[in-house]
Amino acid sequence: MELTVRTSKPYDILIERGSLRTIGARCAALFPAGAKAAVVSDSSVFPLYGETVTGSLRAAGFAPASFVFPAGESSKTLATVSGLLGFLAEQGLTRSDFVVALGGGVTGDMAGFAAACYLRGIRFVQVPTSLLAQVDSSVGGKTAVDLPQGKNLAGAFHQPAFVLIDPDTLATLPPLFFADGMGEVIKYGCIRRADLFRTLETAGDAAPLMEEILFSCVDCKREVVEHDEFDTGERLILNFGHTLGHALEKAHGYTGLTHGAAVGIGMVLISRLGEHMGLTEPGTAGRIAAVLRRWNLPVEDPMAQGESLDRVIGATALDKKGLGGDLRIVLVHRIGESFVHRLPRAQFAALCRETFLPAGEAGVR
Ligand SMILES: NC(=O)c1ccc[n+]([C@@H]2O[C@H](COP(=O)([O-])OP(=O)(O)OC[C@H]3O[C@@H](n4cnc5c(N)ncnc54)[C@H](O)[C@@H]3O)[C@@H](O)[C@H]2O)c1
Repeated sequence: MELTVRTSKPYDILIERGSLRTIGARCAALFPAGAKAAVVSDSSVFPLYGETVTGSLRAAGFAPASFVFPAGESSKTLATVSGLLGFLAEQGLTRSDFVVALGGGVTGDMAGFAAACYLRGIRFVQVPTSLLAQVDSSVGGKTAVDLPQGKNLAGAFHQPAFVLIDPDTLATLPPLFFADGMGEVIKYGCIRRADLFRTLETAGDAAPLMEEILFSCVDCKREVVEHDEFDTGERLILNFGHTLGHALEKAHGYTGLTHGAAVGIGMVLISRLGEHMGLTEPGTAGRIAAVLRRWNLPVEDPMAQGESLDRVIGATALDKKGLGGDLRIVLVHRIGESFVHRLPRAQFAALCRETFLPAGEAGVR
């Protein structure tokens, strides 16, 4: 399956089992013969797929060199990017050479950021290997690193030259990371793909449907990104579940609750709020919770109840979708139909208390 993303610099996305072995031939259509290719990967992914990718690039006449960093979010720093930029310079990459990001979202975000900075921008190819990276981070051109002050605070928009998604790589992805990615898959069903949501409500095993699932998610992201490349409007709907999800992650100190799990709980909570406001079809939050459970994701969190609810509400203060004293939340009218709703922060806080606290406790604080 192939898609073209028509952003300022259009690019193709290939979703095909076994396509990792064809990366060299695919790149031959995009880059000059003999070009240098810097393969950036982490310490978990490179031992699994590094040789396949570098071998295929070499067979196609490119000169690959590999930069491998320790796996995990803690590597997504300016220090690692600094090392990577030095590596690109030592290898003598020029503007006709390219970077290959082989790995999850951490690899893609960081390699993309380095490619955006090096020589004021060289081309790069995304080869996402985690479910989250395949359905989300590899498409759309957002690249970033974390700062000690917060996640993704330094970055750039830099669209890839090509995205190659090989669903077979998911066979080695640890189950916790697979479930995490399913949180984002379910999100696409909620915001724009009711048919995908129905598939997820009934399917027993994702493996035979993976290409279809990936296509549906990537096509949804393509549609949104094409309309709003630089994140000034429609792209907000991709943040369904993220306002309260991010707040829960923060309230947990970014440990113990994965991002996908937090977004899943956030989708249930915001839909309960939408139902309470009369803007979301009754029963929607229950349907979302049932699908999340089916795909091994939690649907509630003690932090969103009782005394700690105010801490979670307080943590939404940093939400990137804020506009002055207002907050923009993403809601669904019904599964597959999302919209952005703007409301004053104080009203949001009061509605959260009314919706999530037992009757009688809402007005206490
Ligand atoms: N740019 C964007 O638009 C965007 C969107 C969403 C998330 N993100 C970013 O993505 C990151 C999270 O992505 P992630 O969950 O992929 O993290 P990750 O890159 O750390 O990958 C998760 C883990 O899975 C391992 N892994 C990946 N593929 C594997 C495979 N096929 N087999 C075995 N192990 C494999 C990795 O080594 C890592 O340990 C965050 O930094 C987040 O900010 C970016």
